[in-house]
Amino acid sequence: MFELSERMKKLPPYLFAEIDRKRKHLLSEGHEVINFGVGDPDLPTPERIVNAMRRAVGDPSVHRYPFGKGRGDFRKAISEYYRKYSNVELDPEKEICVLIGSKEGIAHLPLALINPGDITLVPEPGYPVYQIGTVLADGIPYFMPLKEENDFLPDLGKIPDNVLKRAKILYLNYPNNPTSACADHSFLRDVVAFCRKHQIIILYDAAYHEIYFDGRRPISFLSIPGAKDIGIEIHSLSKTYNMTGWRIGWACGNEKLVSALAALKENIDSGTFEAIQIAGVECLSGSQDDVEQMRKTYQKRRDTLVEGLKKLNFQVKIPQATFYLWLRINEGSLSFAETLLLKAHIVVTPGVGFGNSGEGYIRFALTIGEEKIRKAVEKISDVIGGK
Ligand SMILES: Cc1ncc(COP(=O)(O)O)c(C=O)c1O
Repeated sequence: MFELSERMKKLPPYLFAEIDRKRKHLLSEGHEVINFGVGDPDLPTPERIVNAMRRAVGDPSVHRYPFGKGRGDFRKAISEYYRKYSNVELDPEKEICVLIGSKEGIAHLPLALINPGDITLVPEPGYPVYQIGTVLADGIPYFMPLKEENDFLPDLGKIPDNVLKRAKILYLNYPNNPTSACADHSFLRDVVAFCRKHQIIILYDAAYHEIYFDGRRPISFLSIPGAKDIGIEIHSLSKTYNMTGWRIGWACGNEKLVSALAALKENIDSGTFEAIQIAGVECLSGSQDDVEQMRKTYQKRRDTLVEGLKKLNFQVKIPQATFYLWLRINEGSLSFAETLLLKAHIVVTPGVGFGNSGEGYIRFALTIGEEKIRKAVEKISDVIGGK
């Protein structure tokens, strides 16, 4: 009776649908399924933040349309967070815009910046929304493979000249989903120089900035000299404070880019619920002990999984950040994931779901407790032994 738009038809297929169907089938049969699939924290939002929300929601003045770039107190808290932890100065009035989760900003930004036929440079494997946001804006994604031999950093020198000429946005995400890689200073300096030379905007996705291990804090993109001239950083409270369901994040950096996104959003949504923004002030301004505790929890889980997989003779690259482990399996990732699901009732994400360059890998999300991780390793051992 009706036909979907050409734009919708261009969206990539949901590769995990079949695995998810099988997972639900196993659950319906009463099996216990160990789920390393989704990157959604199992730990609760810290009590201090929930309490701040409880207090805020009772005030009728927050029940109205929020509008604009976000509450002044939350934007101020964001700028103080950057000053304190990253030595970055941001003008809360002009250089910060609150989002309804970072995904929202990532998906919308291309609508404000690209024309039909413009190219965006998309890391692969990568978070699918870079590609999807581009396609929804009638742009063309050019995939930059992230290879293990390059520490999962894109090789900018390999991008052909004719692509560079039409490229408008470069997406980067470190600490990286799914590979868990971090970017070093020299790479970030090179990338800023490269994008300034070729007049390409950088969208830097810092969703996992606070999830790091062994005390090695990732480098802030905006702390690189010149980054603000061509870049916008998208950040989120989702992973740092176990708040994926609350939907709050922000865009910050270049004033023109922030204004463009804010102007676009004025026409699409009416802002982030103010009570959530008030809880956001508590997130960034209150004691960060709970965040440190969360890092320790993920680190223990990481160590448990790494140790278990090493004993099974997998070549494991130890994650320095994020709550993902990206494991090389040297075989088809869809069939490997399916074998784990059907024979061991373990869900992992097949690497190919993040793009063709993810083939040969699977991703574990460390969003389950250590006991279950140990149990999963035993089950994987049985499956491999019986293969
Ligand atoms: C790399 C990356 N960026 C952004 C997001 C979106 O996070 P949110 O919209 O909850 O802020 C995710 C979520 O998994 C992600 O993995």
